[in-house]
Amino acid sequence: MRIDILTLFPEMFTSITDYSIPKRAIGKGFMEIFTHNIRDFANGKYRRVDDYPFGGESGMVMMIEPIARCIEKLKAERQYDAVLFTTPDGKVFNQNMANRFSMLQNIILLCGHYKGIDERIRELFITEEVSIGDFVLSGGELAAMVMVDAIVRVIPGVISDETSALSDSFQDGLLSAPVYTRPADYQGYKVPDILRSGNEKLINEWKLEQQLSRTRARRPDLLEE
Ligand code: ADE
Repeated sequence: MRIDILTLFPEMFTSITDYSIPKRAIGKGFMEIFTHNIRDFANGKYRRVDDYPFGGESGMVMMIEPIARCIEKLKAERQYDAVLFTTPDGKVFNQNMANRFSMLQNIILLCGHYKGIDERIRELFITEEVSIGDFVLSGGELAAMVMVDAIVRVIPGVISDETSALSDSFQDGLLSAPVYTRPADYQGYKVPDILRSGNEKLINEWKLEQQLSRTRARRPDLLEE
């Protein structure tokens, strides 16, 4: 899968391309990430990417031309399955979306900034608008990185023990069960006996019970869904 990220701050993305699971996925060829600086597609001496809004709102608005030029250049080179835009008024990102996006071949991911982007960009180019939660970030870059990380870990083969991504919280609509490692007894705080019993059936039942009780206590909305 290939993700083309349009941003005013390409350097920020080294924090996903250079670390941990996304880095490994890129190294193994599961994912390619290309960043494009929107400013490189702007005109004039000052390479302006934003301007005052018509109608006199406060704040600046990202201009259509540099973004349109960049998207059109990419689209002339290959077909894209989705053109995503990170924005607080988008649909809230979740595991189902991560799973769905992970099955696509080519994605453009546009990071918003300033007060917003010219509405015509959304109308003309964007196929899906995505928020990572009900709060406002300074820009869409962190949201894009959150999405890329969640997408890459569910691409089959990226995590060596494939079941590990499948047992993540949310994959089965439930939160994960608690996990423990050695020592079995930390200053009297013991690992539940059942996990050391070797009885796989009982262990699986215990895990499911834990998942259900945790989800009921912490995220009852997930059970309603
Ligand atoms: N840009 C600013 N805030 C955002 C959010 N919550 N989600 C996605 N993009 C954003």
